[in-house]
Amino acid sequence: MGYKIVKKAELIPGQTTMMVIEAPQVAKKAKPGNFVMLRVSETGERIPLTIADCDREAGTVTIVYLVVGKTTAEMNTLKEGGEFLDVCGPLGRPTHIEKSGTVVCVGGGTGIAAMHHIAKGHVEAGNRVIAIVGARSKNLLLFCSELSSFCPELRIATDDGSEGHKGFVTEVLQEILETEDEIAEVVAIGPVPMMEAVCRVTLPFKVKTTVSLNSIMVDGIGMCGACRCTVGGKTLFACVDGPEFDGHKVDFAELRTRLWQFREQEEESMEKFSQECQCHGR
Ligand SMILES: Cc1cc2nc3c(=O)[nH]c(=O)nc-3n(C[C@H](O)[C@H](O)[C@H](O)COP(=O)(O)OP(=O)(O)OC[C@H]3O[C@@H](n4cnc5c(N)ncnc54)[C@H](O)[C@@H]3O)c2cc1C
Ligand code: FES
Repeated sequence: MGYKIVKKAELIPGQTTMMVIEAPQVAKKAKPGNFVMLRVSETGERIPLTIADCDREAGTVTIVYLVVGKTTAEMNTLKEGGEFLDVCGPLGRPTHIEKSGTVVCVGGGTGIAAMHHIAKGHVEAGNRVIAIVGARSKNLLLFCSELSSFCPELRIATDDGSEGHKGFVTEVLQEILETEDEIAEVVAIGPVPMMEAVCRVTLPFKVKTTVSLNSIMVDGIGMCGACRCTVGGKTLFACVDGPEFDGHKVDFAELRTRLWQFREQEEESMEKFSQECQCHGR
């Protein structure tokens, strides 16, 4: 028996999709920061996706994904009522959340969905959360109404100035760090260049900075070594030691290189999938 898609919504047409999936065993234990390994069919690859939200009573988990290649494109062909073959989780270490004071949560692109779950956890723990979300343009912003429902301090940045601050999330963060008295932690989730830039901004302020690494994963349980990363000079596995790490210690250059290592095969696989779709009239 598979894992039923109880709701599917295109958040940004053709680009970003949200799915609510029936997975009671996963929902029962899921915490902010956890992810699932998900497989569409017997011949498909397993991919990691962050649990953007969960509903224990309904037994569902929410995922939000950007369509970037073969598997995410294949997922987009599934319909409400359809099923995934596997949804394995919750995996990874959950976010370390304790009552610590003011926490700034920064989300970029699809990372906003994952950041929203973490921000909610911090609010529930009694922390003051300042959320900063960023996108290229207003129509690419995600989860703003969900965030503002529990987080009164929501700051928006868009590259083109169509909403909020014109510029990057890092500029808004810099201003907050300069004006706020005490920031206990900054959490950043989004594209690698954004997380790296956030770490550069927080370093001189000596503020604890947590990032979530999107390393390539194959099994997600620490057996294959695909998600190897270097943090503070030590070799670690993002799936079992992370995916969240101290951003000031992450070797981002290595992460970038490893994320690109299968680009040729990924393009080939997408090309083949597109041709199959055309043949089957999808
Ligand atoms: C812990 C974790 C949580 C993630 N959460 C989200 C999320 O919530 N939403 C979201 O849109 N994306 C998330 N990702 C990234 C997502 O897994 C990839 O976008 C997806 O695997 C792409 O698969 P594809 O076949 O569509 O694209 P492909 O063409 O195969 O790959 C496109 C790019 O995605 C990355 N990628 C490919 N395969 C994998 C893999 N097996 N594991 C990880 N990355 C891979 C590589 O950088 C690659 O260049 C997460 C990654 C990790 C490690
Ligand atoms: S994905 Fe295999 S060790 Fe992390």
